[in-house]
Amino acid sequence: MVDNTDPKGTKQTASRRDFLKAGLLGGAAVAASAGAARAAGEPLITEIQDWNRYLGDGVDVAPYGTPSEFEAHVVRRDVPWLTADPVSSINFTPLHELDGIITPNGLCFERHHGGTAVINPADHRLMIHGLVDTPLVFTMEDLKRFPRENRVYFLECAANGGMEWRGSQLNGCQFTHGMIHCVVYTGVPLRYLLEEAGVKTTGKWLLAEGADAAAMTRSIPMEKALDDCLVAFKMNGEALRPEQGYPLRLCVPGWEGNMWVKWLRRLEVGDEPWAQREETSKYTDLLPNGKARRHTFMMEVKSVITSPSPQVPVTHGKGPLVISGLAWSGNGTISRVDVTTDGGRTWQPARIDGPSLPKALHRFYLDINWDGSEMLLQSRAMDDQGLVQPTKNELRAVRGENSIYHNNGIQTWHVSNDGVVENVEVS
Ligand code: MTE
Ligand code: CO
Repeated sequence: MVDNTDPKGTKQTASRRDFLKAGLLGGAAVAASAGAARAAGEPLITEIQDWNRYLGDGVDVAPYGTPSEFEAHVVRRDVPWLTADPVSSINFTPLHELDGIITPNGLCFERHHGGTAVINPADHRLMIHGLVDTPLVFTMEDLKRFPRENRVYFLECAANGGMEWRGSQLNGCQFTHGMIHCVVYTGVPLRYLLEEAGVKTTGKWLLAEGADAAAMTRSIPMEKALDDCLVAFKMNGEALRPEQGYPLRLCVPGWEGNMWVKWLRRLEVGDEPWAQREETSKYTDLLPNGKARRHTFMMEVKSVITSPSPQVPVTHGKGPLVISGLAWSGNGTISRVDVTTDGGRTWQPARIDGPSLPKALHRFYLDINWDGSEMLLQSRAMDDQGLVQPTKNELRAVRGENSIYHNNGIQTWHVSNDGVVENVEVS
């Protein structure tokens, strides 16, 4: 059952199998004792508590529900020194507090370049023009009469991890990896709208423009536009949140977040890319030889351990420990995640649990029996195209140190024997 070939194609030694076996048996044995520890005379069981004694609130106290008051720390956070003004800024998804693969709407990180546009859907329009047979303008009502689809996708900002290029910097996966979210979108395949307008044979590129003060504009190859792009109006079943582009956003699955134009108002068909600011001076990658890579659209295979991590240290001491994380790839699905507790000397395959959907987050677990000694935790993902997440040094060898965008290098957390977790680099 155990696959003896690691993602780089080298044979594993017997030691990994032994470790795995020991880990599973040990985990089960300790789990039993952990549950029994406080069974006798636990006052929270033997004495009646207030929440047992008094009636609670009736229905409708909160017509739109919010999380428990005890979860008030689970919020998006920003890094104030990162940008000059919150209007063109970013905050981060609290990945360390979440589980599964879906990001709750109120916790999806926000990135906008000119603040959140407030648009009454009755006043929103989407125009398609340029190299088309019939230029069209759609109302929201028009769009909702096209056949729609539901799809789960991650959206990752190309700058996710950008602060970590030259070494470890921010202490928490919320800050190092939190420019990502994953929701189920409801929308109309972009192909249907383009077919309605009739793209001329010379139409090879599409310009998408937002209605916000930043008028975010990006060029998208027609091939991608006709493939899996979606014009979405719902996320996780309800209307898009204002921060996420209400009432309409473009989804460009697997590709960098910047292309997912929010408050989508205009699609122009052309015969070549437009060379907008966001695809020339920004969202290009400066190489050591002074040349820049451009059109680096795809978000490549990546993963991170979300717990334990600096914001969620190990507080329970040695024994059973759930190591959990996220993996994703703009190529498709994740076929495998390996986890190391010793900085990459030995690796164990993690368990991927929950749906495995293309271009969506994947949740993985490794259940270990922690002996209380120091750990260097890393995860390494492989996607269904066989691409393996690189180490940071492998990445720097190819791309140098000038880059900001597209850092998919392996992240390391140092866990001390008292359970404190810190961002370190082992490359
Ligand atoms: N669309 C518009 N109209 N304006 C923007 O500032 N920011 C882009 C993209 N689409 C942006 C936009 C960037 S850089 C990213 S990473 C994603 O939206 C962020 O989407 P989110 O705010 O839903 O997380
Ligand atoms: Co971005």
